[in-house]
Amino acid sequence: MTGGAGTICRVQVEALVLLGANAALIGRRQAQTEQAAREIAELRPGAKVLGVGNVDVRNVGSLKDAVDKTVQELGRIDYVIAGAAGNFLSNFGNLSANAFKSVIDIDLLGSYNTAKATFEELRRNKGHIIFVTATLHYYGLPMQAHASAAKAGVDSLMRTLAVELGPLGIRSNAVAPGPIDATEGLDRLMPENMRKRALEKVPLQRLGSTQDIADATVFLLSPASGFITGTVTVVDGGAWQTGGISTSEEVYPKQVTMLNKGDQKI
Ligand code: COA
Repeated sequence: MTGGAGTICRVQVEALVLLGANAALIGRRQAQTEQAAREIAELRPGAKVLGVGNVDVRNVGSLKDAVDKTVQELGRIDYVIAGAAGNFLSNFGNLSANAFKSVIDIDLLGSYNTAKATFEELRRNKGHIIFVTATLHYYGLPMQAHASAAKAGVDSLMRTLAVELGPLGIRSNAVAPGPIDATEGLDRLMPENMRKRALEKVPLQRLGSTQDIADATVFLLSPASGFITGTVTVVDGGAWQTGGISTSEEVYPKQVTMLNKGDQKI
């Protein structure tokens, strides 16, 4: 699992470990990744959970090293979860080319690199790769040009892999979390004062939990979904169906004012 020390990814791994899996968490932050691995291992006696830090998904070489280490320690890789992502709120005027590229590199190139580095194992074990995507790109969402473009690419990559790799027995699917409570994503993307209004647009009238995402992941990685590939499982309480949760309090005229003032960042 890439991004394994993050809030959503961590609970996905916890669920799988509780159900009997061993796991490897791959992350940029060494101390946090190793600490999370130690804590998850305590959930089940005998569980082996590896924390491999200092790995940036933008670097396919360091991912390949992490895969080699995982296979050496755990024997094989059956399931891959490409969960590492980066995001922040920025309007187009303030979004530099480098900022846009950073998010494309982490989310999209990082997902590709994860598939690439694990392909041999997926092929050998008729494995399954799950991408953690989003619903941002189902409509035009202000302040999210970078992440929306990246996640659209991730969905597309997931579908192509389902078609190309299906004959090898490899499945490829995605999970798209909506607004999930107590996560770094929600803290970064939805200021506290917007949450009440945002909740009014969620058909199921609550924020999601990390457990909701873990449950969907367990379903996808179980034989219960054995004939499912090339799909996105949206776990958002129906939020995107009602126009999604805007990350700004009002689209117009606030957006126009922002773009009209100050220098544009290149
Ligand atoms: N608004 C606008 N631009 C921003 C920004 C923000 N809030 N945060 C970073 N940037 C810009 C930087 O200014 C820089 O552009 P510049 O060189 O033109 O100035 C560019 O993004 C890269 O920033 P840097 O900090 O060097 O990149 P990084 O690779 O270290 O970090 C990020 C990548 C920016 C995505 C960072 O937010 C991150 O590491 N996030 C990981 C965790 C995360 O986002 N989790 C939430 C998932 S929902």
